[in-house]
Amino acid sequence: MTSPRWLRRDGEARLEFGADYNPEQWPRDVWDDDVRAMREAGVTVVSLAIFSWARLEPAEGEYDFGWLDEAMDLLHANGILVDLATATASPPPWLSTAHPEILPVDREGRTIWPGGRQHWRPTSPVFRTHALRLVHAMATRYAAHPALSAWHVSNELGCHNIYDYSDDAARAFRGWLRARYHTIEALNDAWGTAFWSQRYADFDQILPPRLAATHPNPSQQLDFKRFSSDALKDYLRAEKEVLRSLTPDVPVTTNFMVMGETKGMDYADWAHEVDFVANDHYRLPGPQDFDELSFSANLTGNLAGGRPWFLMEHSTSAVNWQPINVAKKPGEMARDALTHVAHGADAVCYFQWRQSKAGAEKYHSGMLPHAGTDSALFRSVTALGATLRDLADVAGSPRTTAPVAIVFDWASWWAVEQDSHPSERLRYKQEALDWYTALLDLGIRADVVPLETDLSRYAAVIAPMLHVVPATTAIRFGDYVANGGHLITTYFSGIVDEHDHVWLGGYPGAFRELLGIRVEEFVPLLDGEVAELDNGTSGTVWTEPVEVVDSAVEVLATYKTGETAGKPAVTRRVVGSGSAAYVSTRLGPAGILPVLDALLDRAGVLSELPGDLRGRVELTVRGDHQFVINRGDGPVDIGALGGPVTDLPGRGVVVITR
Ligand code: GAL
Repeated sequence: MTSPRWLRRDGEARLEFGADYNPEQWPRDVWDDDVRAMREAGVTVVSLAIFSWARLEPAEGEYDFGWLDEAMDLLHANGILVDLATATASPPPWLSTAHPEILPVDREGRTIWPGGRQHWRPTSPVFRTHALRLVHAMATRYAAHPALSAWHVSNELGCHNIYDYSDDAARAFRGWLRARYHTIEALNDAWGTAFWSQRYADFDQILPPRLAATHPNPSQQLDFKRFSSDALKDYLRAEKEVLRSLTPDVPVTTNFMVMGETKGMDYADWAHEVDFVANDHYRLPGPQDFDELSFSANLTGNLAGGRPWFLMEHSTSAVNWQPINVAKKPGEMARDALTHVAHGADAVCYFQWRQSKAGAEKYHSGMLPHAGTDSALFRSVTALGATLRDLADVAGSPRTTAPVAIVFDWASWWAVEQDSHPSERLRYKQEALDWYTALLDLGIRADVVPLETDLSRYAAVIAPMLHVVPATTAIRFGDYVANGGHLITTYFSGIVDEHDHVWLGGYPGAFRELLGIRVEEFVPLLDGEVAELDNGTSGTVWTEPVEVVDSAVEVLATYKTGETAGKPAVTRRVVGSGSAAYVSTRLGPAGILPVLDALLDRAGVLSELPGDLRGRVELTVRGDHQFVINRGDGPVDIGALGGPVTDLPGRGVVVITR
């Protein structure tokens, strides 16, 4: 981050509460009801004008700011701050009609037409000219408005347009590659183009990885992912520069989707571009959905460097974009919100304030539902507003470092899930989440951290499926262990360098010596196949015939069945006071649990919770404040923690301030 700047406002520290607000979808008289209900709910901030381009600039160069002036004035008069969008997220019909060359193109060459939203090419100079002109007009108009608290660049950059294969993208990709490799020889080496006659004579011959006869070059694919993240980051910077030049004192952010399904934006890299990190999170139903929320909040907090961050969007209840959109159960809304706060959020905001009456999101919940203020949902919203007011002294406290880290790396996420691999079943995020669930089950606090984090802060570091390991990373992890750190890594880690070239001599390549093992061939499992281990657990998806090649390695579990029967499955090499452990199969949370318990025990990492609370509650710490979150639906007796509450109801959260 350039600097840790928070919302521009006066007054005491507090937790902010609010939503996206789209007054342009409603008649003017509804706005007065809106602000009245906002005050009742305790709303302190709204994000405004996110999808308003067509309304603000109805024809090229003609602006209609009157309605937005009025909305800004009304909000200010009611003491509500505005996180003002630059309004560039969705281009208006006049622009895409006059300039269809701004429309993205998919890998099959199909145009992404208007009709939805975010139909613009990140690399289009035409789009950029029009968008930056609007940003300039917005910043000029509202620079001095007292409600303006922060700028919200575009919206969820890359949600729908991260991968564009257009001619603009091709041109920009070539420029990006020139800057990265300087010479075409270096690019040919990096992409391994001796294979399949792919050798390039000039940068001008290079294309994005468009639909090809068979697997496109994997190094090209990986670089295209890096480029696509950079292209949108560059666009974010362009808007930021305009805003900085006109409103240097107003912090700039944009809403990330840290655990979003698109996975295309390297937020470890983007986090440096914003004045404060903001994130959107939506739960997908599933057995680990709440753990996943916690994982996302945790990583977001660490992307923010432990400093407070802004939960820009989540939902009060159901969304509209899943196959079946499940309403939140009683207590889930507050628990979800407070879990984000537990992981460092100083703002709890929703999509959106008033549930829409028309449009694709009319069945998406809001703070104010179709049923109106006389509804259970609005009463829960109001109750949450009061809870957040009571927790005002949490605001500003940084996350307290945990004893264990889980490393999360975008390049590995991208590379692991590319095609032409030993198995298509590998899921990077799921593997990381499984380790997180096991830690929660053991009652051990962990930080989910980006790859470049200072590892020396942690007694133990888990690097699940850390597949892309440049030489410098291998050295860093080696140093961590040599200095007494305890590393745990898994199958398909340490396999390739930054160009997706295999480290030779046996797997797991870059970590082979550190782990003291050697694998000659992967043995992936077919769907439904299971390999039993002699510790009572079993592996799926992947196995390896591990050979121990160092006398300091102990075997913690051995395969009992399958092609790898009799071979080590889990190993640990002692290195001075540190260690390096390897798990060669997919154990899932239940199988990870005993292995992790044994490894952390040897690393001297103990749960901070009394035995009967481990796994039943999640504990997080922000300075003097401990958050205790009930992970289940039934009550838990937390009297042993000595806080203000003895019986923590199902889905309940309590904050104990020491
Ligand atoms: C986000 C988006 C919002 C809204 C929301 C619905 O992706 O930023 O505008 O569409 O999803 O869940």
